[in-house]
Amino acid sequence: MPAETLNKKKVLFVDDEPLVLQGLQRMLRSMRNEWEMEFVDGGAKALERMKSQVFDVVVSDMRMPGMNGAQLLNALAAQYPDTIRIVLSGHADQELIAQCLGSAHQFLSKPCDPDLLKKLVNETCQLSGDVASERIRQVVGSIDKLPSIPATYHKLSAALTKEETTAAELGKIIAQDIGMTAKILKLVNSAFFGLRRELSNPTEAVTYLGTETVRSLVLANGIFEESSPLGTRAITLEDIWAHSLSVGQHAKAIMRALKAPESDQNDTFTSGLLHDAGTLILARHFSKAYDEILDLVANQHYPNTLAEQRVLGVNHAEVGAYLIGLWGLPSVIIRCIQFHHNPAQSPEGIEKPNPICAVHLADGFYAKNSRHPAFAHSIIDPTLSEKPWLSGKLEQLQQSLSL
Ligand SMILES: [Fe+2]
Ligand SMILES: [Fe+2]
Repeated sequence: MPAETLNKKKVLFVDDEPLVLQGLQRMLRSMRNEWEMEFVDGGAKALERMKSQVFDVVVSDMRMPGMNGAQLLNALAAQYPDTIRIVLSGHADQELIAQCLGSAHQFLSKPCDPDLLKKLVNETCQLSGDVASERIRQVVGSIDKLPSIPATYHKLSAALTKEETTAAELGKIIAQDIGMTAKILKLVNSAFFGLRRELSNPTEAVTYLGTETVRSLVLANGIFEESSPLGTRAITLEDIWAHSLSVGQHAKAIMRALKAPESDQNDTFTSGLLHDAGTLILARHFSKAYDEILDLVANQHYPNTLAEQRVLGVNHAEVGAYLIGLWGLPSVIIRCIQFHHNPAQSPEGIEKPNPICAVHLADGFYAKNSRHPAFAHSIIDPTLSEKPWLSGKLEQLQQSLSL
């Protein structure tokens, strides 16, 4: 088999309308060199085809005779967890979509925007390629919720039972929690909800969706999950939460001190809150290994990314960026997660202040005052302090945050 065939991404399109399939085929002709594409006209045929050829991506219609799209995506999630699952549907399909809110990674609306689909498939496949372990890709691919702090979960449930609760009040509660923020942004950033621009702020997300939709998503569809203990001895959800909230708040304060635009400040808070989502995933799903990792950090002073690499073959930045990319959150948040330990390697670089540098600095400041092995070893890139925008200001910046 020629090498380029091996590297091509395999994408399967499923729709019962032959005209839709033909349209997709025509529209995506330019992708022939990068993708190996197949088109089938029903859910059962798609499952049959997967038996002999596992596809990297499945893009499915919802309303189909026989097996519908929701049933197909739920079956794929159970059998092929690391296949990227995308809904491509019409607006009349809300009910079916509600049945696969957990198993679909992203939701697109018809008519398909080819550039959006290309960007989505290519970026998600790239992030998936960074996670070198198949087992971990499978686990990440099957995650439909990140656990929420029980106290925050109860606060939100109580707020939702009151008629008069406003979007701002709901947004404020959701913005305190890693799992809720990630999930609400997954839903609101999907083209299915008709969004024209990327949203990174939970309050804007609730305002956009409306309190009624959020109420039914939470109470009827159970999009959030109250956490049970993570199963690790060395770290708790509360440890990760306290660190993440602090990094989010301080990264935003750093952007404010550097006089960055308000919208960048909001992006930065959310990016900081989510920057260690990968730690949460690894600690929850590989809890024994995570104890071993934190022992290595505590006893042999390994940086945690290196210890993770040694024990699991991946690090938390790659894993977190993969899940958040898979869920279609704004690119700036994905890159903050991906590069928060090495901002100089990000496409944005470190020549100018940006959300990635701010999250990196806030993470480094936190490390100086932390004795927790998961957070105490983040070192600020020494070349940052030589940059004109930060030169001579690092200590002053840290003091201004009362750290
Ligand atoms: Fe980290
Ligand atoms: Fe961190």
